Amino acid sequence: MVSTPLPPADEKAVWVRSMFDRIAPRYDRFNDLLSAGVHRRWRARTIDALAPTGGETFLDLCAGTMDLAVAISERAPGARVAAADFSIRMLASGREKAAATPGPVHPVAADALALPFPDAAFDGCTIGFGLRNLADYSQGLAEMQRVLAPGGRLVVLEFTTPPGKVFRALYHGYFHHVLPRAGALVSHDSAAARYLPESVKAFPDVRSLARLLREAGFDRVRYRYLTGGIAALHHGVRP
Ligand SMILES: C[S@@+](CC[C@H](N)C(=O)[O-])C[C@H]1O[C@@H](n2cnc3c(N)ncnc32)[C@H](O)[C@@H]1O
Repeated sequence: MVSTPLPPADEKAVWVRSMFDRIAPRYDRFNDLLSAGVHRRWRARTIDALAPTGGETFLDLCAGTMDLAVAISERAPGARVAAADFSIRMLASGREKAAATPGPVHPVAADALALPFPDAAFDGCTIGFGLRNLADYSQGLAEMQRVLAPGGRLVVLEFTTPPGKVFRALYHGYFHHVLPRAGALVSHDSAAARYLPESVKAFPDVRSLARLLREAGFDRVRYRYLTGGIAALHHGVRP
């Protein structure tokens, strides 16, 4: 398997947006098939960690087809939810799900590195499989910190590398060899399917990501592995 070189940082945003624009109509199918539906459990754990209540205002960043934004609204029907993404096609692919939610979910075309929201606008922020795609993780976290009100919660759901040697070796075979081939068939986009494992490999490990959250100013930072460490949840609070 020939690996895809990741795009250089100054081209990453354009490259990433055009990739998600291309795969948008097939993104949900890709997730369901390649994670065997496990991503739904991870999203439920993300909402548990966020603990949304009605009357609060939330931002789901890098919202894609809005699964997390919809899950927030389903858990807390009285909450207001903004679903922000710079790929309008990803947002458009999720519009039927968003329209069927019990509470308001507002899609917003926005760049995570320069958010069009005032300071302290949100009680909580989620970002699912999005942080890894940003050209500058620290700048993204600084923006999340800026738009959260004091006491506001951040929950980051992201792929990581399993800590156990045996499971890591087994999973490596699937993630780096099976997934790129199967993913290319489902997404009709071999570059996108190869980008996923490469971008996870280049992403900070759980401890380094926790450090980035603290450096961005978050308090009470903690993390937990999901499904043997295929993914992880990081949680922080804006002081
Ligand atoms: C892997 S998808 C995740 C979508 C969704 N959060 C989920 O859990 O399925 C990553 C999303 O991040 C978006 N994205 C990447 N970089 C972004 C940026 N700088 N600003 C806004 N959205 C961005 C992409 O357009 C894409 O929709």
